[in-house]
Amino acid sequence: MRINAEIAERLKALGVEVRAGVALSGLTSLEIGGTTDQLLLRRCEAIPEVMRLLKSEGIPHRFLGGGSNLLVMDGELPFVVLHLPSTQPGMRVEGNAAYVEASADLGGTVTFCAKHDLGGMEGLIGVPGSIGGALRMNAGAYGTQIGPHVREVELYREATGEIETLKGAEIRFDYRHTSFAPGDIMLRVKLELPPKPFKEILAGIRVCNEKRRSSQPLNQKSAGCIFKNPAGGSAGRMIDELGLKGHRVGDAMVSDRHANFFVNSGNASCEDMMKLINEVRERVRGAFGVDLENEVIFWQN
Ligand code: EPU
Repeated sequence: MRINAEIAERLKALGVEVRAGVALSGLTSLEIGGTTDQLLLRRCEAIPEVMRLLKSEGIPHRFLGGGSNLLVMDGELPFVVLHLPSTQPGMRVEGNAAYVEASADLGGTVTFCAKHDLGGMEGLIGVPGSIGGALRMNAGAYGTQIGPHVREVELYREATGEIETLKGAEIRFDYRHTSFAPGDIMLRVKLELPPKPFKEILAGIRVCNEKRRSSQPLNQKSAGCIFKNPAGGSAGRMIDELGLKGHRVGDAMVSDRHANFFVNSGNASCEDMMKLINEVRERVRGAFGVDLENEVIFWQN
């Protein structure tokens, strides 16, 4: 979708940098996705006005975080993409609290806090993506989730059209799901973390890195796990038991390392990936009677 020159000028006046014709395949870890205009929100305080402008002009939009848990449709996208520019370093520590910008890298945040002797997030070390995405999805791994550490979130709230601060207790963090609305935009978070000596945190980080390296296809293009684990079960194990590792539709392939990771082994299209996802879901339903829920977010029509 293309923004016309008049609206682009009005957006620029609100501190928005408009990048025309950006391929989402370059901004997502699956390296799949069509083309649209990208709007970089350089002035947070102007976001409510930007959103009012997009609404009044009838311009559909989606917010892109780190792009690491996302499957985007091919071709010319029927929406523009909003994005927060990264700020360096984007985080600071005060006592047991870490104040982090939503655009900051999750892994970088874990390491930064570790260097300040703040632990508790070791399990999240290899989870790709931004802090904003981690908040929205309640990112988790190896028994750790970000939710319990959240004390405050500053965000643009779709419901009120304003920038607000929510207390941790006002937000529901469930398994890979939160009470944030689809149109909410995370801006900053205050995390409270248990003090721990750097060396101890580092040892924990090393263990998690090793586990991840031994079971996940880290050097391939993927969006992490495709399906949520059903209660008490493992999507990866079920897909593996069906002998589907290495199964492919075009260049979309079930990883031969971890069966709940679907990789783009070359130039997979969104259509290839969707076909593979639907086929695997059907096979699991047929064999186990389990209806797998997507963990990855789909941006389709
Ligand atoms: N398994 C197989 N074959 C496979 C994959 C897994 O038999 O191909 C078995 C394993 O041997 C193990 C069980 O299934 O007994 C669980 O596997 P694993 O420990 O790899 O964890 P997972 O449940 O598949 C979850 C998260 C991951 C997270 C890991 C580590 C979900 C959907 N996945 O995977 O998160 O990294 O635990 O904590 O919750 C993600 O969210 O994108 C993600 C990758």
